[in-house]
Amino acid sequence: MKQINVQVGFLGLGNIGGGVWRLLKQMRAEIEARESIKFTIKRVLVRDLYKRRSVNVPNDILTARVQDILDDPEITLVVEALGGEQPAADYIKRALEAGKSVVTANKLALATHWLELLETANHRGVGLFFEAGVCGAIPIIRTVTDSLQANRIERLFGIINGTTNYILSEMSAKDATYADALFEAQRLGLAEPDPTADVEGGDAACKLAILSTLAFHAHVPLSGIFKRGITTITPLDVSYGRELGYALKLLAVSKRVGDRIQARVHPTFVPLTHPLSAVSGSFNAVYLYGHASGELMLYGRGAGDYPTASAVVSDMIAAARGRQGPAYRMTSDVTMDDDWESRYFIRLSAVDRPGVLGAIASILGRHGVSIASMRQNTMGLDHAPLMFVTHAARERDVRASLTEIGENLATIENVIYVEDMKEGE
Ligand SMILES: NC(=O)c1ccc[n+]([C@@H]2O[C@H](COP(=O)([O-])OP(=O)(O)OC[C@H]3O[C@@H](n4cnc5c(N)ncnc54)[C@H](OP(=O)(O)O)[C@@H]3O)[C@@H](O)[C@H]2O)c1
Repeated sequence: MKQINVQVGFLGLGNIGGGVWRLLKQMRAEIEARESIKFTIKRVLVRDLYKRRSVNVPNDILTARVQDILDDPEITLVVEALGGEQPAADYIKRALEAGKSVVTANKLALATHWLELLETANHRGVGLFFEAGVCGAIPIIRTVTDSLQANRIERLFGIINGTTNYILSEMSAKDATYADALFEAQRLGLAEPDPTADVEGGDAACKLAILSTLAFHAHVPLSGIFKRGITTITPLDVSYGRELGYALKLLAVSKRVGDRIQARVHPTFVPLTHPLSAVSGSFNAVYLYGHASGELMLYGRGAGDYPTASAVVSDMIAAARGRQGPAYRMTSDVTMDDDWESRYFIRLSAVDRPGVLGAIASILGRHGVSIASMRQNTMGLDHAPLMFVTHAARERDVRASLTEIGENLATIENVIYVEDMKEGE
């Protein structure tokens, strides 16, 4: 086989860029022998040329000027691992315009600039690869775009943020508070010093936008994804859910019904009998239904330098072989559906006086929301925690009733979705 020589420019040499550098070094001989591909990293863009780094990179290939990579005609492949929306999205676009293929780990840049980046790659006939951007080492992008092409994918559920899954697993295993579990995640390097993007659901929403777009062959914009984070979860919610037979997960859910798509990320009770409930710690999993394949679940490491580098280097090999990136076509227009049906767990703090319970039940009933089970913990407090689970109800009806209850009768402490994961739901 004729050897393919590829000169590569790195954008970023942090956790992921450093991991890719190390993995390429470790696998160099095997990639050359097995794939007949020789990668030479010609330039590496960083912010600080003098920073101490975990990898030993010759000083003369480091640069703080992106033009040194974008304007170099010998560099035909760019690996983007800067992070953030800008300037990353701009650099990716300029690299594609310059006729270079791009491998990126950056879900935010992709989810927010998907259409223009895709159009630029198609126009220039170069590849745009992003396996690493969704669930690290798990080959979910290739699975959806290559292996499941003969399917109509109708439903997709994912635990696609390792930080929140670690926090919720800690809360469940140790009855820890949210603050203590977050602190532990930060101590272990599993959560950023500013954890907002993870704990408020933004990171998972970016991944869900990408996954839903690919699965449903229709552009699902980030702005169309409903998200609610985990910051209000208490040990009480976790333990009550367990008593009812559920594990608490930050679940990404997307479903297609006709030309309508619902895509949402929120705390969700998942039945303890379902395989997603066993995905704990910082692991990720995606569970989907294809009309021909039936149920399918992929599980693995969704973050970390080596797991993510595993996906990046595989994409680099695909790009070196001349592939143009994941094969997908956005064939249909869709409407985002924000009035789905679900069961709900609701925790209120109600004023402990006669008649309150009846008044709450009557507001819910008026909005067509019926209660399946309820628990009240009076314990002589002024404000009694009241927890109940509804039968299937529409999101808009639940929101309207909670607004009314919140105005007059109780503080709404938490709302958790209950996903029974039954066939056909
Ligand atoms: N960490 C994970 O487990 C993981 C998993 C999957 C995907 N990702 C994605 O991978 C990407 C990179 O994440 P990371 O954890 O490697 O980030 P990181 O450790 O903060 O590294 C970012 C790198 O980019 C450089 N950089 C940032 N902004 C720059 C700018 N404006 N100009 C020049 N250089 C710039 C930094 O330079 P200096 O070193 O000089 O500061 C650093 O080398 C993100 O999109 C992230 O979402 C991360």
